[in-house]
Amino acid sequence: MKTLNVGMIGYGFMGKAHSNGFSKANHFFDLKHQLKLKTVCGRTKEKAEAFAKSWGYDDTETDWRKLIERKDIDIIDICTPNDSHAEIAMAAALAGKMIMCEKPLALNGEQGQQMVDAIEKARVPNMVWYNYRRIPAVTFAKQLITEGRLGRIFHYRAKFLQDWTISPDLPQGGAGLWRLDVGAAGSGVTGDLLAHCIDTAIWLNGEFSSLSALTETFVKERKHNLTGKVEKVGIDDACTFINTFDNGSLGNFESTRYARGHKALYTFEINGENGSIAWDLHDLHRLQWFDYKDEGPLRGWRSIHITDGDHPYMGRWWVPGLAIGYEHSFVHQVADFIQGIETGNPAAPTFREAQKTQRVCDAILASAQDHAWHKVRKD
Ligand SMILES: NC(=O)c1ccc[n+]([C@@H]2O[C@H](COP(=O)([O-])OP(=O)(O)OC[C@H]3O[C@@H](n4cnc5c(N)ncnc54)[C@H](O)[C@@H]3O)[C@@H](O)[C@H]2O)c1
Repeated sequence: MKTLNVGMIGYGFMGKAHSNGFSKANHFFDLKHQLKLKTVCGRTKEKAEAFAKSWGYDDTETDWRKLIERKDIDIIDICTPNDSHAEIAMAAALAGKMIMCEKPLALNGEQGQQMVDAIEKARVPNMVWYNYRRIPAVTFAKQLITEGRLGRIFHYRAKFLQDWTISPDLPQGGAGLWRLDVGAAGSGVTGDLLAHCIDTAIWLNGEFSSLSALTETFVKERKHNLTGKVEKVGIDDACTFINTFDNGSLGNFESTRYARGHKALYTFEINGENGSIAWDLHDLHRLQWFDYKDEGPLRGWRSIHITDGDHPYMGRWWVPGLAIGYEHSFVHQVADFIQGIETGNPAAPTFREAQKTQRVCDAILASAQDHAWHKVRKD
């Protein structure tokens, strides 16, 4: 069995989620490659070493360029803030590494296109961590739609609600708060949260045609952790948009970090001619399903517990009825990426597919600026 050595850059939230995914994939999936946590890269040596020790990495690097130069690294995994994805991914492509990159792919569509071009020129396996596709209930929703059970789709609506930036005393920038700094994040909820909703929507319902968006920045100035000065806030705190899809259905999306009481409420609902589907991250192992065929006194929504052996991925886990969680989506993503390499049928979303989400995000931010309808670029 060939070993694939993982070199992971960034050891924060996603660093843990990915390390867990790489550690578990071989235990639960039949892969022809053995994944090895080889090197973790972070700017602070002691912290990187502590992370390496607790997760079982062999060694550490403090400069990602050195990691990329190393001959013994096969996969570069990018878990750093958004403003570093492009530089790292393009350097890794030039070095011929396989690349797994966190979302959003880039700061904007233009940068995303440069990444797609670089990766495709280098012909290296690549993937973006839009992991919600691999929560079994969401994957099952895709299966139902592909089987045509919903028939023609009329509506797609999604929300991603949080409440952690309401305090005006919260600073922007630096460790843990780079998401509030437009230079590091590229945008606010649009690239951070709606990007997930958009990727899932493209997967389940096809591409976006045009849209009209509204954004708001409720707290206009915050102290910047890196400069110590009070600076203008450049991110969108909230965003809502309506859109058309290429399949003729209508979309309605909302995201905010100002919905008091909501921590990570990602929900979507799809209404078709023959039925409807709804999903909620807070109850992620359930899929709500309404079938028009049930019309009559027993009509009603079914709440399907997606924990049986014939549900996506679930045959790999525990006995029927036992739930799995958020972290498993990363295990599934690793397994699918490796199986994609082994079968020659690359797992999605590749950089090229994730770039579609960048184009939607660009249209959202442009529309929020000029209050006009925007077509979504397809090139
Ligand atoms: N797929 C998801 O569900 C999901 C969830 C959260 C975050 N993300 C994405 O993952 C990425 C990281 O987010 P996070 O929440 O893990 O952030 P985080 O702040 O928890 O971790 C970022 C890590 O990157 C390190 N870092 C920053 N610059 C670096 C550099 N130049 N060299 C080496 N290390 C560097 C930091 O020290 C830190 O360890 C972002 O792009 C974010 O959008 C995705």
